[in-house]
Amino acid sequence: MKVKITATGSYSPEKILTNAELEKIVDTTDEWITDRTGIKERRIAAENQCASDLAHQAALSALNSACMKPDDLDMIIVATVTGDMQLPSTACVLQSKLGAFNAVAFDVNAACSGFIFGLSTACSYIKTGAYKKVMVIGVECLSKFTDWEDRTTCVLFGDGAGAVILEPSDDESSCILSTDIHSDGRFAELLYVPGGGSMMPASPETLKDRAHYVKMKGNEVFKIAVKTLENLVIDTLKKNNVDPSELSLLIPHQANMRIIQATATRLNLTPDRVFVNIEKYGNTSAASVAIALDEAVKTGRIKKGDYVLLEAFGAGFTWAAALIKW
Ligand code: ACO
Repeated sequence: MKVKITATGSYSPEKILTNAELEKIVDTTDEWITDRTGIKERRIAAENQCASDLAHQAALSALNSACMKPDDLDMIIVATVTGDMQLPSTACVLQSKLGAFNAVAFDVNAACSGFIFGLSTACSYIKTGAYKKVMVIGVECLSKFTDWEDRTTCVLFGDGAGAVILEPSDDESSCILSTDIHSDGRFAELLYVPGGGSMMPASPETLKDRAHYVKMKGNEVFKIAVKTLENLVIDTLKKNNVDPSELSLLIPHQANMRIIQATATRLNLTPDRVFVNIEKYGNTSAASVAIALDEAVKTGRIKKGDYVLLEAFGAGFTWAAALIKW
């Protein structure tokens, strides 16, 4: 049995935070942020908006595209590292907001690779025959875990959500050809939120130490991300006997324009075959590839029969790719 993406959707909060505004918050410049990352602005959730609210809007957008009702879904997988609460899962909160009570709902935590980990999980469940209409959502409210006094991280992140609906298909000429997921926990401390879990429970001390915010050794992450992603995309294409010249569109995780360019160069892709929206949203972690995929579909960048490659790298470390024949 094959699995097909039958609908996409996304949502980005209204509030825009530009590089010029960030210049007033921390010691940075539009020039530094643009040159080093490609980011010009990012979306920030309202004070009363949490991850499930953004996910809810993206889910409605995908259901609308599919002409489906929430009741039709039999599984909801939410990929996030910035969920509403420690428990229950954001997927359960979303299930309730949608009224999708025929669906089992659970979260996946694989940081920026989370959406593709979710796709891979959904494909496996659908292939067993037990589930038929699965929604996968990548959502982040990173602004609520960002240290707005740390210029090395606060310029990078943004909030948003993207969703897809997956269904079984007999059509070998239009399906997800493969998903590859990987992890290496030895690098956990290069990118993490140390406080608030069972290792370092919340206390006045952890608050004082700003331990509840994202910490990243960006330069070290950068070098490993570039190398890992180059190998990942080559391996994924090779496994599927697809030559890079046959690839219609690369949809990379939008973490850094220089990382995206390195991967594109490795595959010898011209800019028109690489989807980039980092300038508008920054790094939205698990939401990034899902939002980009929806925008690519809605703007006509993907046509039936196209080979589309999704890839991501994130905390854990985790990395993942999915090759789709659209
Ligand atoms: N404005 C101005 N200067 C800055 C800023 C800023 N916002 N941030 C850092 N700098 C300075 C540094 O202090 C340093 O100064 P120094 O040379 O005097 O020490 C200099 O700029 C260079 O800093 P680097 O960290 O070496 O800069 P780099 O070119 O590596 O860019 C960046 C930093 C953008 C973070 C990059 O390393 C990167 O993108 N890393 C990968 C991020 C990623 O892919 N993460 C994984 C996914 S995220 C997730 O899973 C949630």
